[in-house]
Amino acid sequence: MKRLTSPSAARNREPIVELLRSVAPKHGRALEIASGTGQHMLYFAAAFPSITWQPSDIDPARLASIRDWSTDHAGTNLRPPIRLDASKSDWAATQDTYDLIVLINLLHLIPAEAAHTILEEIALALGKGGTALIYGPFLRNGVATSPGDAEFHARIQSENPEAGYKDLTDICTYIECLGLGVTTHHMPANNVGLVLQK
Ligand SMILES: C[S@@+](CC[C@H](N)C(=O)[O-])C[C@H]1O[C@@H](n2cnc3c(N)ncnc32)[C@H](O)[C@@H]1O
Repeated sequence: MKRLTSPSAARNREPIVELLRSVAPKHGRALEIASGTGQHMLYFAAAFPSITWQPSDIDPARLASIRDWSTDHAGTNLRPPIRLDASKSDWAATQDTYDLIVLINLLHLIPAEAAHTILEEIALALGKGGTALIYGPFLRNGVATSPGDAEFHARIQSENPEAGYKDLTDICTYIECLGLGVTTHHMPANNVGLVLQK
């Protein structure tokens, strides 16, 4: 079975779509980085039919799942997924620019250096006036927002000491240093949606 499912993707898709409704362009091209199972992509493509959606992921099993979920989409605004290692420098140079870039639940799983590279490449891949949404859990002043978040952060770091939750202020400062505007939106389950504007 190629089709994978993620309970968190089913839970957070509606609040994310609500936020996107207030910040997404009316039409244009959108890239989702780290699309995972493909459930979000299917939902977004149905919710925003005037936007052409490009799903992507690094993992072949996820790419197969995205392809499988895509067969449920009735419209013509969903592109076949592409393999994209978003933490590799220079991927933006291989793409056309996008009006919207979405990244959900990846930054906490990777080292800070990789997270910085992703932000740098997003800044390059956005067209003028473009918007990006980065969603996930963050530390506040270096502290997790709940015991469950502290436990998850520690578990990630036990597997890779370089990875783990990033500090919200540090990430916002980094984004601003790239010349992008950033606004913070508090989301369910202590998550944050960062809306970046080029
Ligand atoms: C926790 S899952 C989130 C998936 C999806 N965005 C969601 O919220 O359901 C993390 C995803 O990031 C992908 N990933 C990990 N490292 C990546 C990288 N360097 N570039 C692109 N995708 C990556 C994994 O394959 C996985 O699909």
